[in-house]
Amino acid sequence: MSAPSITSARDVVDYLKSQHETIKALFVQTLDASDAATRDQSFTRLRTMLAVHETAEEMVVHPRVRRKVDGGAEIVDARLAEEHDAKTLLRDIEGLPRDSAEFTKALIHLQDAVIKHAQNEEELEFTALEATLDQAELAKLADAVAIAERIAPTRPHPGVESAAANFAVGPFASVLDRARDALGGASDKA
Ligand SMILES: [Fe+2]
Ligand SMILES: [Fe+2]
Repeated sequence: MSAPSITSARDVVDYLKSQHETIKALFVQTLDASDAATRDQSFTRLRTMLAVHETAEEMVVHPRVRRKVDGGAEIVDARLAEEHDAKTLLRDIEGLPRDSAEFTKALIHLQDAVIKHAQNEEELEFTALEATLDQAELAKLADAVAIAERIAPTRPHPGVESAAANFAVGPFASVLDRARDALGGASDKA
């Protein structure tokens, strides 16, 4: 008797869509925070979630869309440009005082861009993946995304968008980011 194949119950589209919802909720939570310390905690969770989510998409999801979907290259190039812009904004926001008007303004701008980006992914990439891959492949992709997220950098690195760049730079950036995270707080800027 052959061993049962190990497949995840997760589907990559459900998995990433639920992360999009978490990211949207974290934007609201950060903007609604009543004081700078709570806002900083919430922003740190948002920054980490966004950084690992985008890296996993860049390593696992976009390359698959590029290869498997008709017109995939154009769709993916546009998403990579959006991710680059979002990471640049996120990196700039990190340096702003949490209780400043600049922080709020920049975060609302980023929120807008990230919501549009997520909508583009869901409409143009995720639907195409669902139409192209079978359930087992979608589950395998979910596992690959989860693994990439475990080793992904926790801070934005604009300029590292291609899968090749993420594989080359990602592990080093990730170790440094996680060391900085361990030191804690918003006061650990280089
Ligand atoms: Fe993305
Ligand atoms: Fe996404």
